[in-house]
Amino acid sequence: MPLPETDHRLPFTITRASHVELTVEDVEESIRFYRDVIGLVVTAREGDVAYLRGLEEAAHHSLVLRQADRARECAGLGFRVFDDDHLDALAGTLRRLGGEVQWVEPDHQGRTLRCRDPAGVPLEFCARMEVEPRHITSFRLFRGGAGQRLDHFQLLTPSVRKTCEFYVALGFRISEYLVDGSEEMIAVFLQRKGNPHDLVLFQGDGPRLHHVAYTTIDAQTLLRACDAAGEAGFGPMVERGPGRHGPGHAQYVYMRDPDGHRVELFTTHYQMIDIELEPSRWTVDDPAFSTPWGLPAQRSWHEEASRFVATDVTMLPSRPTLPTLERYLAERAQDARREESKTSARGPRTSPAPPGSPASRG
Ligand SMILES: [Fe+2]
Repeated sequence: MPLPETDHRLPFTITRASHVELTVEDVEESIRFYRDVIGLVVTAREGDVAYLRGLEEAAHHSLVLRQADRARECAGLGFRVFDDDHLDALAGTLRRLGGEVQWVEPDHQGRTLRCRDPAGVPLEFCARMEVEPRHITSFRLFRGGAGQRLDHFQLLTPSVRKTCEFYVALGFRISEYLVDGSEEMIAVFLQRKGNPHDLVLFQGDGPRLHHVAYTTIDAQTLLRACDAAGEAGFGPMVERGPGRHGPGHAQYVYMRDPDGHRVELFTTHYQMIDIELEPSRWTVDDPAFSTPWGLPAQRSWHEEASRFVATDVTMLPSRPTLPTLERYLAERAQDARREESKTSARGPRTSPAPPGSPASRG
């Protein structure tokens, strides 16, 4: 089946993934995690809400943490458009696509348009936010993973193609995608800002938010984030990595915050701007897609994700077999048992003499 084609002549320009709001049980504990481990800056703390941003970000916030009874949910994903009049054009397109739109004025940002994607994900779009100093060279503020800027969101959704078609109709461009043996789209990487992703869709029970990703400066800083997590008592929350991605090719580490929301820190990826560039295709039987080297992800990474506020989750009708760490270890343990029983049938085996020893010289 051909890929959905991006319309490049829309009367509005979505520029990038911009911000996300998460509900949390204890906003102080969440601040401690995002400031000391991920390395974000606290822009403002107002009642039960905290606004944070990455070190290179001049916009007021990319992460809003709101203390709430129904913690561990995502209130919505934010994107930016180029200017205010683009919001009106976008509202028209969203209505034509069958969605309801709502105008709101959240604190610290300009006129904002809210809607839901076909999977039910709450989205908001704005053109402006209050401006804060960039701390890109404020090295005294670099803590833990020194998170620089919000780069992308990854979602789980039962119908990747249908959700992808919606975003492509809003001007998103496919950079990479994954298909199964029947060419069904299992995952797609969509972008607006000229690198491989602003939004990643993966097949799964959903819609749910799989992770929010912040860039960092280099691979050494990924390790420093892990050290900071260990020191701050968040060591068990280092869920996957450090490792190397197939799509995008960046190095990464994934952690769970105190409420279980997943955040990725990663070294940034390649550009995809020029019009002639075609999407890269991956197949599910290519091991380099999820694990070019090292151990596969734990089962929790594949299956657990944050629900969206007031949004039903649709379960997949059938569950694919996932390449989990647990499955990998069970298979290796089975191999070891098989080898052991062969060895005991053969009798005791002597170790080869080390090279250069008298025995090895005969
Ligand atoms: Fe990611």
